[in-house]
Amino acid sequence: MEFSSALAGYAELVNASLREETALDNGIVSEAMRYSLLSGGKRTRACLTLAVCDMLGGDMQSAVLAADAIEMLHCYSLIHDDLPCMDNDDYRRGQLSCHRKYGEATAMLAGDALLTLSFRTLSKIRDAEVSRKCTELLSSAAGFEGMILGQELDLRGVDEDAEISAQLDRINENKTGKMITVSLLMGAVCSGISSGKTYDALEKYGRGTGLVFQIVDDVLDVTSSLEELGKKTGSDEANSKRTYCSVYGAEGAMRRAEEITSESLKALDGIDNSGFLEWYANDLLHRSR
Ligand code: IPE
Ligand code: IPE
Ligand code: MG
Ligand code: MG
Ligand code: MG
Repeated sequence: MEFSSALAGYAELVNASLREETALDNGIVSEAMRYSLLSGGKRTRACLTLAVCDMLGGDMQSAVLAADAIEMLHCYSLIHDDLPCMDNDDYRRGQLSCHRKYGEATAMLAGDALLTLSFRTLSKIRDAEVSRKCTELLSSAAGFEGMILGQELDLRGVDEDAEISAQLDRINENKTGKMITVSLLMGAVCSGISSGKTYDALEKYGRGTGLVFQIVDDVLDVTSSLEELGKKTGSDEANSKRTYCSVYGAEGAMRRAEEITSESLKALDGIDNSGFLEWYANDLLHRSR
């Protein structure tokens, strides 16, 4: 099967499951939560969880729950990221951002609700050890030593007197890379693998792929449009954010992304059935949304 159809199939699977997990409509916060969660989104992280589980012949039922959980958590991070106190962005996924549609208080609560729902969803994984391990991994990747730290560093900005690329890597690795890596690792855990050669390879591949994901996001923020991207471009410049793109130009940033990609691909050497992941790493360099 074409890898792009596999990707579409994984996204469809998770979209159906997310609709089911959030079907209860009991007020404005749950409406806002579904408004943001079910409004598209590439489902990159979910697809990586499902692709790894598929590649390793693991339990897809558990992987779908883990995939739901990472998308819920990711969506909460986007709702909060768009708030006026953070990036102050009016559009997300081709529609008004959550706070522009429902107001800041409701958006904040919708984000909080998605964060808590994410861990409730992981608790539904039948195998208790798999559930526990996914909870441990996701909470570390998303918390004060992961995505939250990355967002803190992003808001603080870089110190122009110190080496900039190392600072940008630290921001990108934390705010984005760790969530990409954990998506892959949860797919392994749902296949009964939580250490060893394949696990280490996925971790290495995830780190590189996460860095590239954010570099391309920063380039698209300069070169794309609201129509194509579904979010307003020029956000980083408006917020005076330094990125690979602003420091080295779009071409320089993409050269760096290509270098990192070849390293990520090396990590997959000797890993069976890694065709989808190889394809995905290259596809990422050409994504337009
Ligand atoms: C946007 O993530 C935030 C970043 C980490 C760059 P995505 O580009 O995955 O956004 P959606 O989920 O497809 O909307
Ligand atoms: C956000 O990075 C990363 C998150 C953890 C949410 P950006 O601020 O660049 O993401 P976009 O461009 O708003 O999607
Ligand atoms: Mg941001
Ligand atoms: Mg932002
Ligand atoms: Mg961005």
